[in-house]
Amino acid sequence: MPATTFQTVSEEEIQRINRLQRKLFDEFYHLFEPPLPEGVPGRLEKIISHGKITEGDTVLDVGSGTGILIPIIQKYKPTCIYACDLSEDMLNQLRENYPNVKTMLADVRDLRLPDQCIDEVFINACYPNIVDKAGAFSNISRMMKTKGRLVISHPLGKAFITSLKNSMPFALDDFPEEPKASALLKPFGFEIETFIDEPELYILVALKRRFRKPVKEAE
Ligand SMILES: C[S@@+](CC[C@H](N)C(=O)[O-])C[C@H]1O[C@@H](n2cnc3c(N)ncnc32)[C@H](O)[C@@H]1O
Repeated sequence: MPATTFQTVSEEEIQRINRLQRKLFDEFYHLFEPPLPEGVPGRLEKIISHGKITEGDTVLDVGSGTGILIPIIQKYKPTCIYACDLSEDMLNQLRENYPNVKTMLADVRDLRLPDQCIDEVFINACYPNIVDKAGAFSNISRMMKTKGRLVISHPLGKAFITSLKNSMPFALDDFPEEPKASALLKPFGFEIETFIDEPELYILVALKRRFRKPVKEAE
């Protein structure tokens, strides 16, 4: 039977892999700038449309890279866009491209935005990279408003991650199938609303059902 809780990873290992990621994405940030592969711009539009952003919302882009989602998010006229990433060079490029975005150089699990302040969270092409997933989804759940939407996606689909695995200096997790995703996210107060798993597109939309204090604070 597949595991239905996130794997526990030691703090030392989380820090080690995050350091490797910083180094890699600092070096290759320019590869994430347009022009994007054929078909990707249209699929990114579709991904963002699933967030159902309404005017005045507050949006968080997790593992934003240089900001390929930002011009699409901006079309929906949110009041505020936050972008967080581990890589300083990714965020430097993002600020150059989109000076109005509020950037945060941090692991998403460590963001200290207030409770229940975010309407939509996008995690595009970043879910496999998040090492401390329990910490990340606990903190995302804390920051999100009830009925907010969490969109986990990849515009090249699950198989793309499989094709990358042997060439990366750190392990990449697979995107989960729907039953596993549902079981993994439920403890953090999320319920799956939409699940799309096509050869070149993965979109998981989860609704935030209830406010949940992070486990460490609630104890
Ligand atoms: C493959 S890139 C994708 C960038 C962007 N979302 C895109 O679609 O072009 C993954 C990004 O996630 C960032 N990242 C990985 N783990 C993270 C974490 N725990 N918190 C925040 N950012 C993270 C990496 O630094 C990297 O910039």
